[in-house]
Amino acid sequence: MDGETSMFKQDFPSLRDGKVAYLDSAASAQKPEVVVSAMDYIMRNGYANIHRGLYGWSQDMTQAYENVRAQVAEFIDVENKKEIIFTKNSTESINLVAQSWGRTFMKAGDEIIISETEHHANIVPWQLLRDQIGIVIKVIPISDDCKLDISAYTALLSEKTKFISIVHISNATGVINDMNEVIDIARKYNPEIKILVDGSQSVVHQNISMKDIQCDFFVFTGHKLYGPTGIGVLWGKEDILNAMPPYQGGGDMIETVTFEKTIYQKTPARFEAGTPAILEVIGLGAAIKYITDIGMDVITRHEAEITEYAQEELDKIDGITVLGRNANKVGIFSFTMDGAHPSDVAMIFDQMGVAVRTGHHCCMPLMQRLKIDGTIRASIGMYTDKDDIDRLITALKKAQEMLR
Ligand code: ALA
Repeated sequence: MDGETSMFKQDFPSLRDGKVAYLDSAASAQKPEVVVSAMDYIMRNGYANIHRGLYGWSQDMTQAYENVRAQVAEFIDVENKKEIIFTKNSTESINLVAQSWGRTFMKAGDEIIISETEHHANIVPWQLLRDQIGIVIKVIPISDDCKLDISAYTALLSEKTKFISIVHISNATGVINDMNEVIDIARKYNPEIKILVDGSQSVVHQNISMKDIQCDFFVFTGHKLYGPTGIGVLWGKEDILNAMPPYQGGGDMIETVTFEKTIYQKTPARFEAGTPAILEVIGLGAAIKYITDIGMDVITRHEAEITEYAQEELDKIDGITVLGRNANKVGIFSFTMDGAHPSDVAMIFDQMGVAVRTGHHCCMPLMQRLKIDGTIRASIGMYTDKDDIDRLITALKKAQEMLR
């Protein structure tokens, strides 16, 4: 790593010409050549549906699909690959848990705890459930520096608390929530409380082990992990998953069907109705292989260096406020600029080839809490280098000049 050119950038076809300083990886990551070619190869050389055909192509695809399940299990340090369910994305994984576990095991008056930093994907599914069966949603407040208020959280726990659903790393601020602290407090209060961790951002930036994070459900999405869109993961403990009713009905999730009665398969087939995202699973497998061949530790170290550099450079500019500046965080810089609207800033950035996201980042309640309309968010990925950060800083200075 020479500080000028990321050692990984050349692996990503879309970034090779250096035209765009891509700083929107928290929204979706660029794809390495190996992901593009793995999906392309399958489509050109023997694509077929899985779990259905006795011919070679179908058998091979089934094997490849199931191999990725084992690969995902290993990636998040789980022994039992039946506990890995393929979904469309993190959003679908959370909706699945809300509608299957929540609707079955919660009743009117039962409480769920979420936090002020949640993405809409970890708010709205619980509101739908609230409107269906009358659960109560309680919200952990955050400090002005976007950290969870742990004493307020502790005070929210009650004998009616049945579920806790918390984001590990905020997509809007990059602040890392201490999941072990959150989980330990809940387990000491009542070991029966079920806990879901939204790992959409954390799985991208650091090693994740389900042996370390003692939750009941963990969700993430493929497209932020350098894989394709349309593929997500839900991990849950086998006994919990087998006690849950299917989320959707259809082919491949049944043992037998008559017009009177259907017997469902056990997990994971129970939750994978219909033809799944076969190609996307193959792409996810290629992405995970790419990451693990490099080593997540190496990626984490590279990103820490870029994050530190970016923070130092941002600190040198007056009139910028970075959310969660003093919290423990990854390379997601969500900031406001004095006297400027985020969309005006983003338009200037775009003209200078700097891609960032602006707005509420699917976290409207967080913006309401911080009394802002939105932010400008620059988020890094494994391919981000110091040159990308320098281009961000140049664009920022230009925007300040133009909007002053
Ligand atoms: N959740 C994605 C983001 O943070 C889309 O931008």
